[in-house]
Amino acid sequence: MSPAIGGTLNRVDGRAKVRGDSRYSAEVPVTGLVHAVLVNATIASGRISAIDTGEAERADGVLAVLTHRNLGRLANVPKLLPSLAGLAAPGQSFFPMQDETIHYAGQPVAVVIADTIERADHAGTLIKIEYAPTPSITLLDQARDQAYVPEKIFGGLLPGQGSRGDVGKALAEAEVCVDATYRFAPNHHNPIEPSASTAVWEDVDRLTIYDSTQGPNSVQLTVAELLGLPPISIRVVSHAVGGSFGSKAMVWHHPTLAALAARHVGRPVRLVLTREQMFTSCGHREEQEQRITVGAGADGRITALRHHKLSLTSHFDDWAEPSLQSPAVAYVSPNYEGIYHLVRGNTITPTFTRAPGEATGMFALECAMDELAERIGIDPLELRLRNYTETDPESGHPWSSSGLPECYQRAAELFGWHERDTRPRRDGQWLIGSGMASALYPVTQPVNPQRARARLYNDGTAVVEAGVSEFGTGVFTAMTQVAADALGLPVERVRFVGGSSDLPNVTAAVGSAGTSAVGSAVHLAATQLRDELIGRAVADAHSPLHGADPGTVVVQDGRMVRRDRPDVGETYADLLHRSMIPDAEVLSSWTPPPQDAGYGVHTFGAQMAEVAVDADLGVVRVRRMVGVFAPGRVLNRKTAHSQLMGGMLWGLSQALLESTRMDPRLGRWANASLGDYLVAVNADAPDVVVDTIEVHDEVVNPLGMKGVGEIGVVGAAAAIANAVYHATGRRQYELPIMLEKLL
Ligand code: MOS
Repeated sequence: MSPAIGGTLNRVDGRAKVRGDSRYSAEVPVTGLVHAVLVNATIASGRISAIDTGEAERADGVLAVLTHRNLGRLANVPKLLPSLAGLAAPGQSFFPMQDETIHYAGQPVAVVIADTIERADHAGTLIKIEYAPTPSITLLDQARDQAYVPEKIFGGLLPGQGSRGDVGKALAEAEVCVDATYRFAPNHHNPIEPSASTAVWEDVDRLTIYDSTQGPNSVQLTVAELLGLPPISIRVVSHAVGGSFGSKAMVWHHPTLAALAARHVGRPVRLVLTREQMFTSCGHREEQEQRITVGAGADGRITALRHHKLSLTSHFDDWAEPSLQSPAVAYVSPNYEGIYHLVRGNTITPTFTRAPGEATGMFALECAMDELAERIGIDPLELRLRNYTETDPESGHPWSSSGLPECYQRAAELFGWHERDTRPRRDGQWLIGSGMASALYPVTQPVNPQRARARLYNDGTAVVEAGVSEFGTGVFTAMTQVAADALGLPVERVRFVGGSSDLPNVTAAVGSAGTSAVGSAVHLAATQLRDELIGRAVADAHSPLHGADPGTVVVQDGRMVRRDRPDVGETYADLLHRSMIPDAEVLSSWTPPPQDAGYGVHTFGAQMAEVAVDADLGVVRVRRMVGVFAPGRVLNRKTAHSQLMGGMLWGLSQALLESTRMDPRLGRWANASLGDYLVAVNADAPDVVVDTIEVHDEVVNPLGMKGVGEIGVVGAAAAIANAVYHATGRRQYELPIMLEKLL
């Protein structure tokens, strides 16, 4: 029996997906269901001066209309809420419909509940609202002078600034200096499944919410807090989630509003966000600007790095995606300064979006590195190698594992980097260029213990459970493999069950750490269950293994045998049957290592791209991408490959397509639809080569997993922008790259 880990097991939920049997939160059949629709503020700042819901209430099929006047006050707002690993989660310190104030366009101002979604929708248009608007701020350019440096960002997890050495002095003394400012359009996640909640009260203190979420336990604890109920009153179920990309990480308003609406009308209520509401209800990547100043010696060795970010946040939270985190440690740079500057604007709090921070921060750094290489006159890859560091420049600790030099080397081979024509080349009307970038992403560790349960039945099949939801990453499949290997069972005899807050608690799957967090717990639970059964066997006078040293017993295909005498042993099933035990079960808890365990922990990779730019029209086409990553243990080569490739294509999307446009007169997004907000689709995908470098990591977790969720995004846009420069001689300082900039 070959190990399942590292293999290519097909998605265990694949068949249900393909047949249309998967149940999304808006598809769970519920008796007596009615529908809620949100009505959103059309101004970006001000207050509601008058609201008339009479006509809406009298409309056909309407059960109730909730506004700030009758919704009732929430139990605990604003307060520390539990969904971000026990800390205040950005986006949850504000709850709408508590008073008449409008903080951003799209803020919910009413909930209409009716027997059909169409009637609820129609009744929503009958509500008459008068607003007293005040001037709004929705663009950085409107309020640069109001910028401040926050004490902490990111839910209080990270400091607003940091430094080492003397950056001013080092920059003044640097032989070469690159100073550039990069601008980033806001981005929206746009998963295909919009967020949805179905709320069912079985009693005044028994609520089930079917919710589209990255963390059922987070939703349970947050809604409990908001409603002032104990967590035992609330169960959150998430059978299948149709993508997320960070939009379903924080717990936004809709599950709580659905619960309140359901309680109000005494019926199960379903609330599905529209595509347009997805642009105002679950955060986004904020508009931002980053200035990078790199000082180096004539040999290219970096002596100083200054990295300042300016971005737009909400009125409620000091949010900035942590763009300075990875650039601060990407290369040797003894003198460093990083500062976040925020401007308060009329927006919902921005949130995690596809490599939050790294996708933008590493873009800025890696474009500046390309400029530095040119100034010094060395190959961009050589410049990275000269600045590679075996130790974390921040802490001075060694990396827990790296593999970055090997990633560069492998990417160069696959791409043909060293054979490339360093002069720009022409292919008919197309200008051809190539570029590269490094990829870094931190290894995020949950702060709380991660739990999983493993149960073996006396027929030799096993069920393993944890509260993680499957939002498209393949985690249920990978967990089946982890449990099968630890138990010594074929994957066909193992079932993984997740997607409910009733199951052992794991952190919401964020920061590319979902699979490693739950995987560590599953590995522990399954290993402990195996050891318990081996212990039973060696202690059992009727077992062929009686008296054997448990350390010498291994399990193959459900059969416990002596390693040196594989003919001596018995199956789990035989042992349990003989003992008249129906099943054996273990609940395990994995405690992540402390943040500062004496190692720098990052995942590394290298990206390369070849582009063709139309000489007359400025159209950019990516022809080839190569990404090589060192993500530690790969549980499933097929799903990991897909995630990494998906990440690279999101990077292409960020480079060339994605941009949410603000209309500052209205304070509203101008392109809040999938027709107007462009994301990369299959037709945009070039020839993409993905590979991984094996690194062993004994520090991060028991299986040495560093995560594949987001590293594929990082550096992809920079490699493309650098290739565009190579092809055209025009530096790109703004994302997305628009053809207007290339004419
Ligand atoms: Mo992910 S964008 O860290 O939810």
